[in-house]
Amino acid sequence: MTAQIVVVGSANVDVVVRVERRPGAGETVLGSDTVLASGGKGANAAVAAALLAAEVALLGAVGDDQNGELLRTAMGKAGVRMDLVRVTDRASGAAYITVTPDGENTIVVSPGANSDVTVRQVDSAADAIAAARVLLASLEVPIPAVERAVEIAAEAGVRPVLNLSPVAELSPQTLAALDPLVVNEHEAQWLLNGPLEPERLLGLGPKSVVVTLGGRGALVVEAGGSTEVASPQVRVVDTTGAGDSFVGALVTRLAEGADLVTAARYAVRVAAVSVTRPGTQRSYPTRGEVPDSEGMV
Ligand code: RIB
Ligand code: NA
Repeated sequence: MTAQIVVVGSANVDVVVRVERRPGAGETVLGSDTVLASGGKGANAAVAAALLAAEVALLGAVGDDQNGELLRTAMGKAGVRMDLVRVTDRASGAAYITVTPDGENTIVVSPGANSDVTVRQVDSAADAIAAARVLLASLEVPIPAVERAVEIAAEAGVRPVLNLSPVAELSPQTLAALDPLVVNEHEAQWLLNGPLEPERLLGLGPKSVVVTLGGRGALVVEAGGSTEVASPQVRVVDTTGAGDSFVGALVTRLAEGADLVTAARYAVRVAAVSVTRPGTQRSYPTRGEVPDSEGMV
């Protein structure tokens, strides 16, 4: 089996409650009914790519429980290949999410089975990684496994793309292989230990960088210079997982041979659609639903 894109990353059941405002310490607030949905940064990006017609496989782990069943069913239905997903005896990953009326969220992740993604599992998927066009990684699974996957990809001439979310320290060798490293503004400031100066991000080693700027779009930083990519203006309902849809769309276009700026222009439109609808995976557009200009969606 070959997939154009292999995503190494997490799968979580999202437990989502809408609240008027978040409680402070020791306080209780009432929220909406609970929505349970398939999420996780790795799974979200894989589903985003599959909905855009990419051949994509998730390299990850879920538990041998009801939540694991929910995750496998949802991802399989979206068209994500699941043969690199291990079933382990830990509880499936879960994310406890609050969403406020402005569309912003807070998330607490319980990694569970995602912690069982090992270097050994990655090594046994080496052929699948080497046969892909793009490897995409995010950081809700153990860093040694992510770094091994990037190494296998780089050695095989497969393009490694990494979303530094949630932020974590990476080895200089891993950073140097990335093309691009994808960060939001907070992650960029964390990496730089100071204000966002895009060109300094290249100084950390990656071949290219994409900085996502929320409603303002994205900035593509390459050796030849930086390019601003504007986002369409939309009515925001729920920004949860918008960054994951961005990277899923970005790698979809990169795997098709698009250049980085073209891929980023596409990815901001996909992310803009996602924020107009509630939830993560269920808010992502199919290929036909992506607006073809930077106009309103
Ligand atoms: O990026 C959004 C995702 O973060 C959610 O789906 C949740 O599972 C956490 O991983
Ligand atoms: Na959404």
